[in-house]
Amino acid sequence: MKTSTALHIVSGKGGTGKTSVAGALAMSLAKAGSKVLLCEVEGRQGFAQLFETEPLPYEERLMARSEDGGEVYVLAIDPEAALLEYLQMYYRLGRVGRLLDKFGIIDFATTIAPGVRDVLLTGKVYEAARRRVGGARSDFVYDAVVVDAPPTGRIGRFLGVNDDVAGLAKVGPIKSQSESIMTMMRAPQTSVHLVTILEEMPVQETLDGIRELEGDGIKVGSVIVNMVRPPLLSAETMAAMESGDLDEAAVSAVLDSVSLPAGAASGLLEGGRAHIERQELQNEQHNVLESSGARLLTLPRIAGGVDVAALGELAPFLKELA
Ligand SMILES: Nc1ncnc2c1ncn2[C@@H]1O[C@H](COP(=O)(O)OP(=O)(O)OP(=O)(O)O)[C@@H](O)[C@H]1O
Ligand SMILES: [Mg+2]
Repeated sequence: MKTSTALHIVSGKGGTGKTSVAGALAMSLAKAGSKVLLCEVEGRQGFAQLFETEPLPYEERLMARSEDGGEVYVLAIDPEAALLEYLQMYYRLGRVGRLLDKFGIIDFATTIAPGVRDVLLTGKVYEAARRRVGGARSDFVYDAVVVDAPPTGRIGRFLGVNDDVAGLAKVGPIKSQSESIMTMMRAPQTSVHLVTILEEMPVQETLDGIRELEGDGIKVGSVIVNMVRPPLLSAETMAAMESGDLDEAAVSAVLDSVSLPAGAASGLLEGGRAHIERQELQNEQHNVLESSGARLLTLPRIAGGVDVAALGELAPFLKELA
């Protein structure tokens, strides 16, 4: 029974892994048996790349199926197509819409003001999250909608654009639709997740993002700490390096005892020190995030980057969100 559709909005600093995390989250939800719609809104064809398919048209495509009957559909939301669809749906302007398109008016409307794009994009997400299989009391089509959303710098405006519209329109269907969208953005079944890596700038941007969104009445569900490097050295080894007990002579002796070139010792120690330094920086940033009180979920760094197989590896780390 799909008596509600969960909405997961994935944002974060550019390049921290929003597209990968949105994909992994969709897989994780499907593994739990859900029917999921994974949407992208930036016209970048990120999911076509990730799932190694041709560019996706404006159409919900089945991309993956889990053993438990869960499914991931993918949709690249295009604001121009969304506007045509909207005109057709609400005003039955199919032919007129195509004519407007021919004269470049649709293009004009969707590029002239970034706000208009955001209204159309969030409008389509709203439509998918509210779609039912039949009449008003029937089940929802999707258990969950996952959005690969704009980065933190633009997420407040993207999610809040309908507040502005509701404020502009005095009465009528546009006002009520934009109010309904804002209600959905602030509803308990909606969560905004911010992806970050454990470096100073993205962590700061995450904290700013939490503050901005919460100021707009939108709650951040969790911070997804991505590309975390696991510690490779034991606490004893680190202590021995720090105290100087594990010096070049000691490492050379060990290398020599297993017939490896003793000359590699200084390079190994150098690598070890760099690793410890990176771990310390990671820990520092982890503490900063923890002090913000946000719920943290950690994803490991996958060697070689994220492809379809890696999505399956990352999915279990997100199952708390299912
Ligand atoms: N957990 C991970 N382990 C290893 N590599 C990762 C991980 N997550 C993401 N990446 C890699 O980092 C790069 C950026 O990831 P992705 O495209 O998902 O980020 P993004 O935030 O969507 O970027 P953009 O801001 O450009 O949209 C990609 O090459 C991806 O494969
Ligand atoms: Mg992306």
